[in-house]
Amino acid sequence: MRLVILNDPNEVAEWAARYVKKRIQDFQPGPEKYFVLGLPTGSTPYGMYQKLIEFYRAGKISFKYVKTFNMDEYVNLPRDHPESYHYYMFNNFFKHIDIDPKNAHVLDGNAPDLIQECNKYEKEIADAGGVDLFIGGIGPDGHIAFNEPGSSLLSRTRVKTLAQDTLQANARFFGNDIGKVPKQALTVGVGTVMDAREVMILITGSHKAFALYKAIEEGINHMWTVSAFQQHPQTFIICDEDSTMELRVKTVKYFKALSDVHQKLIEESSSVDQFRTLH
Ligand code: GLP
Repeated sequence: MRLVILNDPNEVAEWAARYVKKRIQDFQPGPEKYFVLGLPTGSTPYGMYQKLIEFYRAGKISFKYVKTFNMDEYVNLPRDHPESYHYYMFNNFFKHIDIDPKNAHVLDGNAPDLIQECNKYEKEIADAGGVDLFIGGIGPDGHIAFNEPGSSLLSRTRVKTLAQDTLQANARFFGNDIGKVPKQALTVGVGTVMDAREVMILITGSHKAFALYKAIEEGINHMWTVSAFQQHPQTFIICDEDSTMELRVKTVKYFKALSDVHQKLIEESSSVDQFRTLH
């Protein structure tokens, strides 16, 4: 696992966006070869989406041959509700870029048969050839997507009942009224994300410091589902200083000493020129 420690949330957003840009550029997607991205919502990835929109507007990246699969969606929240993840993705990202709407997948929390909807989603991911890069965020209780504490680490896309911690954390989006937070969600499973070829998890803020510590310094534990990614061969955690407060000094020093290596991961390669001629 790589831990990329940056100064603040802005740097996390910039680093993550540059990494996505580089991966898409290096992949050189085309009509026969789509790049498949897994995407999160929430306040943490918001800055990354802003940067990606900037890159798109500057002609540095295209999403024409990109397919996306979002991690999760509330159950029974109208699609046009300002807190639905459909609304978030459309307004904060999809409407600003050149992705074909049919390639931007978000689970339908209003589907008549939720189990069928989840199974269909798994099939769509498989039919797309699997996810090349799954980007995730976590809750303060260490959940990834909506895989609440106690979720199976082999879980697939399914209906989940939200934990009290999550209802509390997300009440801020519903006028601080916990009663208005939907009690259930559809979410990709830990196993679904584990199947991705690469996983990049964004963690910022001191309120997530204990979760980050559980994610990397303790063992794999289904009560902190993000810890499962210790067993993924290509996982990056991109975090800010505030979120490292519960880590050991030696852990922080070790990963900070690798900052030059990490910087190289987002440097543009010459293939960018090839990309520009293709699009
Ligand atoms: C929700 C979502 C997660 C997200 C988390 C963190 O619980 N289901 O996918 O990662 O919130 O959100 P934020 O970035 O706003 O802290």
